[in-house]
Amino acid sequence: MSTTVPPAESLLSGSGEQAWIEVIQKMDEVYNDLLQYEVALEEKNAALEESHQFIESVLASMSDILIVCDRNGGIEEVNPSLCHFAGKSAEELAHTPIFDLFADDVERSKAREVFARHARDGVHDCEFFLRAGDGSTVPVSMNCTPRVSQTGKLMGVVVTGRPVGELRRAYQALRQAHDDLKRTQSQLLHAEKMVSLGRLVAGVAHELNNPISFVLGNVLSLQRYASRLGTYLDTVHAGNGEKLPALREELRIDRILADMPHLIDGMIEGAERTRDIVDALKRFSAVDKAQPEEVDLNEVVERSVRWVTQSSSDKFAVDCDLPDKLHCRGSSGQLQQVVMNLVQNACDATAGRRDARLSITGRQQGGEIVLRFADNGPGIPEANLAHLFEPFFTTKPVGQGTGLGLSISYGIVERHGGRLIAANLPDGGAEFILTLPVEGK
Ligand SMILES: Nc1ncnc2c1ncn2[C@@H]1O[C@H](COP(=O)(O)OP(=O)(O)O)[C@@H](O)[C@H]1O
Ligand SMILES: [Mg+2]
Repeated sequence: MSTTVPPAESLLSGSGEQAWIEVIQKMDEVYNDLLQYEVALEEKNAALEESHQFIESVLASMSDILIVCDRNGGIEEVNPSLCHFAGKSAEELAHTPIFDLFADDVERSKAREVFARHARDGVHDCEFFLRAGDGSTVPVSMNCTPRVSQTGKLMGVVVTGRPVGELRRAYQALRQAHDDLKRTQSQLLHAEKMVSLGRLVAGVAHELNNPISFVLGNVLSLQRYASRLGTYLDTVHAGNGEKLPALREELRIDRILADMPHLIDGMIEGAERTRDIVDALKRFSAVDKAQPEEVDLNEVVERSVRWVTQSSSDKFAVDCDLPDKLHCRGSSGQLQQVVMNLVQNACDATAGRRDARLSITGRQQGGEIVLRFADNGPGIPEANLAHLFEPFFTTKPVGQGTGLGLSISYGIVERHGGRLIAANLPDGGAEFILTLPVEGK
């Protein structure tokens, strides 16, 4: 808007009155415009105030710390979270270097370097130690974003941070609890193993007894042979050559010589069997090494059956129908623990029956091995089916059952990438189906 004042002579002339009217009209217009400007300005001011308050309230309610810096790292603006953290007011912090907030010189130089190097593209979730108001050092996960002017010039940075001390403490506590749980679990696993081993001592002793008595019998024969050979050699050394043929006949030296290799072979076999049993025992009772190995399931099943049946006082018949080769990968000690518990459970369930029987069948179908354990016991009451695999669920008297067998077995089978399920057979009796992948995990 522009107004042109009429020249003085026209104001004084006849047309002067008209000119004055025009001036007054113009002034009115100017005044009106001014009024409108003022209203608009007030409205804008109110909007500005409102958005200022909004930003203030957002900053105040932020739990993360926020620092606005100039290009040299001088603090321009902070939020109440930072004031609370640093134990200083916004005025005290203004214009001080942001680096003063860091815990020590090492952190300061690290921050300088990181902020300088990444000022343009920003820093994300970088952890620094800051000095809190109470003097403690607190790990803070920080983000730094560049602040640019409308012309694209770097004006400074905006830094946000979240103290992670609490989070880390909570994480450590969680980890500790998890470790404790794992330790307890492996202790339980071991305890159940030892309990079943305790029950199996008779079976294992019986199995060991065989080869040992075998070796012992052969050693006694060798002892007798040695004394006869000694007598014969004494005669040879005494130079009584003429007596030798008769003596050889009498002491049956030729039979001794012919028999000795068999005796020695027998002893080697017996000693090897003893060693295998002790190895199996060691493998079974070992606190597990995690390395998976090739497991011969035939051997695992046969050994489990032998150990259980030989230690059971009742008559308990087990028939196995397994293919020649049934191999999977995993821990043979752990899988033996699973199979032995299934055989032992069937033995317990059928105890007292004259025709107590368990039939084990094994099949390899595709990439899976399926072992079925079907007994002719009373089966599992419907109400118990859902609880069988729960730790400490047992229907056996104290001393006979820990209630851990199936729950531990479930975990072992799961770790091997397999499944263990229980069901009742249509004609009575229980059936447990153990499925394992051939390749294992
Ligand atoms: N073959 C089975 N027939 C009937 N019940 C069974 C059989 N196997 C397991 N059970 C039931 O499952 C329970 C839990 O077995 P398990 O976890 O091995 O613990 P435990 O043998 O120490 O009792 C047993 O107490 C029994 O009640
Ligand atoms: Mg059991």
